[in-house]
Amino acid sequence: MNRRFQHDSLIDLREHAEPGERTHPVPWLLWITVLSLTVWGASYFWLEMYWPEQGAAASTAVQPGAAAAPGPDGAQIFSSRCAACHQATGSGLPGMFPPLAESEWVNGDAHKLADILLLGIEGALSVKGANFNGTMPTFGGTLSDAEIAAVGSYVRSRFGNHAPALDAVLVKAERDRLGRRATPWKGDAELKSAQ
Ligand code: HEC
Repeated sequence: MNRRFQHDSLIDLREHAEPGERTHPVPWLLWITVLSLTVWGASYFWLEMYWPEQGAAASTAVQPGAAAAPGPDGAQIFSSRCAACHQATGSGLPGMFPPLAESEWVNGDAHKLADILLLGIEGALSVKGANFNGTMPTFGGTLSDAEIAAVGSYVRSRFGNHAPALDAVLVKAERDRLGRRATPWKGDAELKSAQ
């Protein structure tokens, strides 16, 4: 009997000690944390909106009057539209996708780069002395002049390239000159002979 009584009171003791039933200040801490996270999140968003990256805005400005507005993000366009084939490092894939790094087409005449991006190119194409024979999609229908200029400027300034930015005014002039043509360039033979 005595033993059983002892056992019961032990259980009693254990149950009284439940820590969760006491009041403690955690809910307040939680509120403060949630509140400060909200304030931090809102200010981060605000900063991103009003202080966009200076460099991106400067290199993609379309008209002198529009220079203050942030232009399209060349890096973002590159990773969503080009990197799958030309790779994130711009190195391409041997025999399949030509390199953009140190490519004569990327760093050479800006008109030719705009032409490649506007219409795409297929057939025999030599890049850095290596021969390719694939199909580069056309971007004239899906990217605006400012977007083509942004991604063109991006590839001309990355991967060890140091060519001047691709101007959206030049892209527009090329688009106008090519008119309604929608067929891709037939390799470098046609691209080189085109004025
Ligand atoms: C579906 C794969 C694919 C995508 C996406 C793609 N390209 Fe290409 N690109 C190619 C292929 C293939 C060639 C070579 C075409 C040939 O052999 O005639 C090429 C050629 C080029 C060239 C000329 C050769 C060189 O390497 O300098 C440039 C410049 C170029 N692409 C830039 C871009 C840019 C910028 C984008 C994104 C806006 C892009 N490409 C998206 C496959 C692709």
